[in-house]
Amino acid sequence: MDDAEVLKRRGYIMGINLGEGSYAKVKSAYSDRLKCNVAVKIIDKTKAPRDFLERFLPREIEMLARVKHHAIIKTYEIFETSDGKVYIVTELGVQGDLLEFIKRRGAIPEDVARRMFHQLASAISYCHELDIVHRDLKCENLLLDKEFNIKLTDFGFSKRLSRDDDGRVILSKTFCGSAAYAAPEVLQGIPYQPKVYDIWSLGVVLFIMVCGSMPYDDSNIKKMLKLQKEHRVHFPRSKVLSPECKDLIYRMLQPDVARRLCIDEVLVHVWMQDPKAISDTMISKGGECSYNQNLIRATFGKESGPEPSENEEVIQEERHADMDKLSDQMQRTAI
Ligand SMILES: Nc1ncnc2c1ncn2[C@@H]1O[C@H](COP(=O)(O)OP(=O)(O)O)[C@@H](O)[C@H]1O
Ligand SMILES: [Mg+2]
Repeated sequence: MDDAEVLKRRGYIMGINLGEGSYAKVKSAYSDRLKCNVAVKIIDKTKAPRDFLERFLPREIEMLARVKHHAIIKTYEIFETSDGKVYIVTELGVQGDLLEFIKRRGAIPEDVARRMFHQLASAISYCHELDIVHRDLKCENLLLDKEFNIKLTDFGFSKRLSRDDDGRVILSKTFCGSAAYAAPEVLQGIPYQPKVYDIWSLGVVLFIMVCGSMPYDDSNIKKMLKLQKEHRVHFPRSKVLSPECKDLIYRMLQPDVARRLCIDEVLVHVWMQDPKAISDTMISKGGECSYNQNLIRATFGKESGPEPSENEEVIQEERHADMDKLSDQMQRTAI
């Protein structure tokens, strides 16, 4: 039975392709029961390797069922067919993922980035509090809802921390994620503290948000690692960034794991504190959603439309030179 038929029998009308990953494809669908559009991640178990089926897929399913947070994608149901296909039905990221957004629109102004990054950091704080680590934080795994709120997804490399008898975290030896977002300890194959790894990736995400380009060139891992270990972060001269924003990025991209910020420190960093503009806008517009949407409208003009053809035109017209490089790099990020 094909996917459309399987979904129809479960009460979904299959729509367009939303994305493709290593062992999964993602489609949109309309849910008769929920009366709204959803996303369906379809994994063909017959085409996936054993390691993925025995370790990563069960963890992804377990974590999706466990987490409940406004900045994490909501899971509606998960089912499997007798011919070995798993269907994960989730909330739809109507505005696509953050990488597409930045490719289309360029770097995000600090005020907007602060709002989005705050949502992301609070999702990570929630996970870390539950001893859950994500280990694949990157712009493609950050979706945007219709009001441009961040929704974290893809728990394919996530896991619950293992602790020894004294409650100490057992270091991870699974070197996963994407090279461009990977911490130096991970790139070097050193057993690592997974929460500390997540923070490095957050540093890369924030850099991309505000600069519109990658902090390191991952086409040469050796060179990239050297820069990382020397704690050199090169901010593009063409971008005017506040010193506070640079400071936060610099402290997350700290090669010394003992000195890298933890998520609580990220949340209280001075750049994360709402400047006057936020409280003013929130009072006048009544809430964080309208804040985000209005700021984005004011900043970027026209809201990005849901029509794929319309988006494609925008990509053609507005693609930024930096962004071509960024997307090329993202394609070879699997490690
Ligand atoms: N709920 C969703 N709404 C909109 N787009 C989605 C959704 N889930 C996934 N996508 C798109 O599909 C891509 C792949 O999905 P993901 O869950 O990250 O799969 P993989 O584990 O293969 O990386 C994402 O980068 C995103 O562009
Ligand atoms: Mg993904």
